Parts: sequence; C-alpha cells; structure tokens
Amino acid sequence: MSTNKIQFHDLHPSNDDFAADVINGLSQRPAAIPPKYFYDAKGSKLFDAITQLPEYYPTRTEIGILSANTAEIAEHVGTGSLIVEPGGGSCAKVHILLEGLKPRAYVPMDISKDHLQLAAEELAVAFPWLEIHAAATDFTRNIQLPPSTPEGTLVAFFPGSSIGNFDQDGAVDFLTSVAELVGPGGYLLIGVDLKKDKVILEAAYDDAGGITAEFNLNLLANINRELGGNFDLNAWRHKALYSEQIGRIEMHLISQKNQTVMINKTSFSFAQGESIHTENSYKYTTEEFITLAKRAGFQSDALWVDANKLFSVHLFRAQSLSK
Ligand code: AVJ
Repeated sequence: MSTNKIQFHDLHPSNDDFAADVINGLSQRPAAIPPKYFYDAKGSKLFDAITQLPEYYPTRTEIGILSANTAEIAEHVGTGSLIVEPGGGSCAKVHILLEGLKPRAYVPMDISKDHLQLAAEELAVAFPWLEIHAAATDFTRNIQLPPSTPEGTLVAFFPGSSIGNFDQDGAVDFLTSVAELVGPGGYLLIGVDLKKDKVILEAAYDDAGGITAEFNLNLLANINRELGGNFDLNAWRHKALYSEQIGRIEMHLISQKNQTVMINKTSFSFAQGESIHTENSYKYTTEEFITLAKRAGFQSDALWVDANKLFSVHLFRAQSLSK
C-alpha cells in the first residue's frame, strides 16, 4: 500500500458562512455573491465541463504549456523540491510536473477535506515514490505548511488563472502570503490568463452550448437548496462581459422582471435588468503581471506563453526580505 506515504493534516478550515455571505451580498447594490459558492457538487461538475469546452481555451492551453516545458521548469527549480499547491484539492494538474520535477514531496492544501483526502490517495497510487503531506485548510485565511513537511526548496504551484478571481490589491496580498510561505529563494509557478480580443474572451465565458450559463445559474439553485431560497431560475439570465478598461471578465445574473426573492425569511427585491455580480476574472499582460508580482516580493525567473498568446505561465522567485 502507498498510504504510508500520505500524511493528512486537518488544520481545521473555518467553515464558510454561505448564508451570511449571500444575505449580505444581496443586500448590497449592486448585489454580489462571492464566486467560491459556485462549487457545490453540481457546480464542480459543471466547471469540469467548462474546462472541456471548445471556447474555454485556458485549461488545455495551460496544460500544453506545462507539458512542453517541464524539463525547463526543472532546470530552474531543480529536483527534490517541495511542491505546495494552495487550492490543489483535486491534485489534477500537478501530475504533469511530477515525472519531470521529481519533487521530494507534494503538499496540496484545500478547504474541502474529503475531496482532498480522496485525491491524495489516488495520487499516491499513481506516484508511489512521492511523499504527500496534505493539509485541509482555507489557504486564503491560513496558509501554512503542515508540521510534517520535510526540508527543501519550496515551489508554490497556483495554476488555472485562479489568481484572476482577486482584484489587483487582493492578488498582491495573496501573493505576499505565498512569498512568506515559500521564503526567500523559494519559487512560485503560476498560470495567468492573458488580455486578448474581447470576442475570444466573451465566448470563453458565454459558450454556445450554455454550460457557463448553467454554471452561473446553479449558484441560485445552490442557494435554493442550501439556504431555503425560492429563486425562479427562469427569471434570471447569464451575462458575461469583458471590460477592456478594467481588464476583467465580469459574470452577472440579470433579473428578467421586477421580482421579490425570499431566502428563508428575508426578502430581496430586484428590478427588471438589475444584476447580481457573481464573478470577476482579471486578465493581465505578461508585463502587468510581472509588475504586480514584484509588489508581493517576487522576481521574474522565467515565462512561457503558447504560440497563440492565449495564456501565460510565470516562474517567480521570492526575494530575500531584507531587500
Ligand atoms: C476557476 C476562476 C479560473 O475565471 O476562468 C470559468 C472560473 N468561471 N468560467 C475563470 C470560470 C466561468 C475560472 N477560474
């Protein structure tokens, strides 16, 4: 058995307060709900389906970049490192790196305990030589290495352009905590979606098959299921727009009529055309992202972009704190 290779640490992730966040968010104008609530069981399945869509280029492009460049990445970070993945609950993309990087250990961190444990066990079967130190934690609140983690060069892995969900200041704050985690001389390997033609971007977030619309609307279904809401899913429409000025995709749910929605015993009124803002996905040029990472104490070490200039993978190195 390979389970002796897995150390599982329950760092007691504080529970998200779905009810409080939704009631608070729907009381604001414009109304907004944090995107983390997309990912119930159905939402996670829909997101997996999104990653396979012809219009959604980020996942396959990033996998292509990582696969084509593992040897080069290994030349920079060396073998025997410790790969730390905040939010790496499904341990999926790290597969690509393991043979090439031959890390000493892999440290996935995720708020979803059961999901993390299952994925870590599967990974241990596929890579019996790999030590796994999994930590059930909310990395946005508590990013720390589990106590059993061995010594070695730390490489934080943050793929998928997940960084795009933060605004710029939020991204700097998060990357600052990552720089502290990996320490001076440690690395960050991060996937960042690039600015590009509005038509390509908007299609990626509003596919012809309607999967992204279903993903967005499932947030309302999730509220109905979990919080006793009575959203009529037919009275809301998915909208995705790219703001060139802000450099972000915005996803909204637009009320199709004047309506009042009840969540448990609280009521919320929406006018026809009014929006609930459900997600931002910030896009960066390579230069913009290098400047942003510098604010968090990271120096650019290497950069890979696909031939169509759709997606970027940056390797950064944390500077010594005295600088
Ligand atoms: C998981 C945040 C990277 O912004 O592209 C995909 C989420 N939302 N389609 C993204 C998402 C709609 C995705 N991230």
